[in-house]
Amino acid sequence: MQVYTAKTGLIAHINKQKQPGLSLGFVPTMGALHQGHLSLVKAALSMNEYVVVSIFINPTQFNNPNDLIHYPRTLDKDVSLLKTLSKDSIVVYAPSSEDLYGSQIKSDCFDFDGLDLEMEGSSRPGHFDGVGTVVKRLFEIVRPDNAYFGEKDFQQLQIIKKMVAITKLPVKIIVCPTEREANGLAMSSRNARLSPAEFDASALIYKTLQYVKKQFNYESRQALSKWVVNQFSTHPLFELDYFQISEVESLAPIKKMSLHKSCRAFIAVNIGDVRLIDNIDLN
Ligand code: PAF
Repeated sequence: MQVYTAKTGLIAHINKQKQPGLSLGFVPTMGALHQGHLSLVKAALSMNEYVVVSIFINPTQFNNPNDLIHYPRTLDKDVSLLKTLSKDSIVVYAPSSEDLYGSQIKSDCFDFDGLDLEMEGSSRPGHFDGVGTVVKRLFEIVRPDNAYFGEKDFQQLQIIKKMVAITKLPVKIIVCPTEREANGLAMSSRNARLSPAEFDASALIYKTLQYVKKQFNYESRQALSKWVVNQFSTHPLFELDYFQISEVESLAPIKKMSLHKSCRAFIAVNIGDVRLIDNIDLN
């Protein structure tokens, strides 16, 4: 399996492979690959002749320096995992910051129409400009036909769709379902930092979302929010960052329940110094 650390090598490789009628799939990641990532790569392999997986811990999307320092770095293991899926059809791009950003590591500014102000945006200022910047650069280098993202980061997904609409980059965004641990916890590279007790307790996050989905048509938004806050305020391990029910296109909080709007519930909790997010469709 080829692992390119410089875009010149990757671009030359892609130019050699590109032929009319053959499509290129792309899975951007920050490494520490788990089954969630592998499900994206499998989807990409099933729909494209060639797949590029990028592994790059993007500094501009971290607003907490501690989070950046502690982010797991496991390139050799990641490459071995990818080899179990295909040896010939996957190419890895694992660049340095200089290769992607040059000498100035900073974000572009986007107008995401308010999508970036909700939830993760208000908790992590500048995060989505960082995501938009790196994904745009990666799309310009890789020039994929299809790019694969998981629903676990639903707000990120909407931001990337918006960035593609703004920049008119010719790439189709393919949405893949969230992969979960047996206890319901959404798969994430951060899960590796949970202690066994924290991991077990984290089952509460998805259980809470499932309850909200079940009760969505029967209880008011306020009653559901109050119930969720109670679940976490009485728990010794968790700190609830936000719980929000939003309309899916704008991500704005819904004012009153409506059967006619597509809604999703979003949650972020801190457990120790690990931040976990999840979401569920409601109707
Ligand atoms: O979801 C992620 O892993 C990252 O935000 C992404 C899309 C690879 C950009 O750095």
